[in-house]
Amino acid sequence: MLFQLSEEQLMIQQAARDFAQTELKPGVIERDEHQKFPAEQVKKLGELGFLGMMVSEKYEGSGLDALSYVLVMEELSKIDASASVVVSVNNSLVCYGLESYGSEYQKEKYLKPLASGREIGAFCLSEPEAGSDATSQQTTAEDKGDHYVLNGTKNWITNGGTASTYLVIAQTHRELKHKGINAFIVEKGMEGFTVGPKENKLGIRGSDTHSLMFNDVKVPKENRIGEDGFGFKFAMKTLEGGRIGIAAQALGIAAGAYELALAYSKERKAFGKPISDHQAIAFKLADMATQIEAARLLVYKAAWLKDQGQSYILAGSMAKLYASKVAMDVTVEAVQIHGGYGFVKEYHVERLMRDAKITQIYEGTSEIQKVVISRDILK
Ligand code: CAA
Repeated sequence: MLFQLSEEQLMIQQAARDFAQTELKPGVIERDEHQKFPAEQVKKLGELGFLGMMVSEKYEGSGLDALSYVLVMEELSKIDASASVVVSVNNSLVCYGLESYGSEYQKEKYLKPLASGREIGAFCLSEPEAGSDATSQQTTAEDKGDHYVLNGTKNWITNGGTASTYLVIAQTHRELKHKGINAFIVEKGMEGFTVGPKENKLGIRGSDTHSLMFNDVKVPKENRIGEDGFGFKFAMKTLEGGRIGIAAQALGIAAGAYELALAYSKERKAFGKPISDHQAIAFKLADMATQIEAARLLVYKAAWLKDQGQSYILAGSMAKLYASKVAMDVTVEAVQIHGGYGFVKEYHVERLMRDAKITQIYEGTSEIQKVVISRDILK
């Protein structure tokens, strides 16, 4: 086993670290406070090639591996998880789904602007009554010959207001259950497609989360992804990779909070010495560092398996389950180490603690990861 990053991976990691410090950190507290989408920063992330990292150069992507992608996710998430979720959704769910399963027409028309970061995309699976139970899609796509007609509502859609391209999962043949589901490419501006108000969230407040309404939206047949009935498999295959991205986000949130707590503990004095010299704090730091390292190994392994062309369903779910728990535990401890300062905005850790929670919910709750893991180990 080689626990070593390549020269190229180290350079990409450093570039993401620098970007997070110089471009994301300034204004991150205000964006969180005012729920402001990091539009300028996302544009620059696109220019750096971070929005289509694993897409081949043929489709205007960066042609990099999944390990480089998780390194970038980790570094950006240390500072601003509202920005990194845009990177995650665009890369893992939207670009990956289109490149792997889209037609040549779809890749030319929709993938290129998304991979180059000129536009961003959204992945629309969750519904008011179908989040974890993804086979129970209520949104319908009626086959009308040369087009489909979409009706229904999607909830909690990341990039819901800012995306231009939406991958929408809908039911076509209800009697076939999950085998009757399809995935469609829907453009903003298609008649009957409206974006609901922005959600007022606990964490990742800068990210743009909306419900979406489809009212007799005409979608051309060439916008269906894959064969008739491929939609559920499409969603599952895409989410497999998405879970690695969110696991890396959770890892980054934990690592960011830990780095802040470590630095603070060396500066802050109590009872005549830095608080890091008190075993009560030193032991907390030891636990946090160990948990983060274990999460990192799981996340990197899942990405490595993907890069090797091996199955990463189990590894991805384990990485997400564990890293998201570590993100919660470590951020709570980081606030504790900061004491009263940890409870105010200027010290960043309270935001990281709020941001951590969503990593246990989106792209499959922790309970869903346990379903995937237990089915695999018991089969
Ligand atoms: N790859 C390929 N096929 C898969 C698969 C996978 N990973 N997982 C399931 N399938 C297939 C099964 O093989 C089965 O196909 P066959 O009938 O042909 O054998 C079919 O899908 C149905 O499988 P199950 O019976 O196992 O389906 P299930 O509903 O019982 O369980 C689940 C599957 C894992 C619980 C799934 O429903 C799931 O992942 N749910 C969570 C969905 C989710 O992550 N929602 C979050 C929304 S997205 C989001 O958050 C985006 C954002 O904006 C950030």
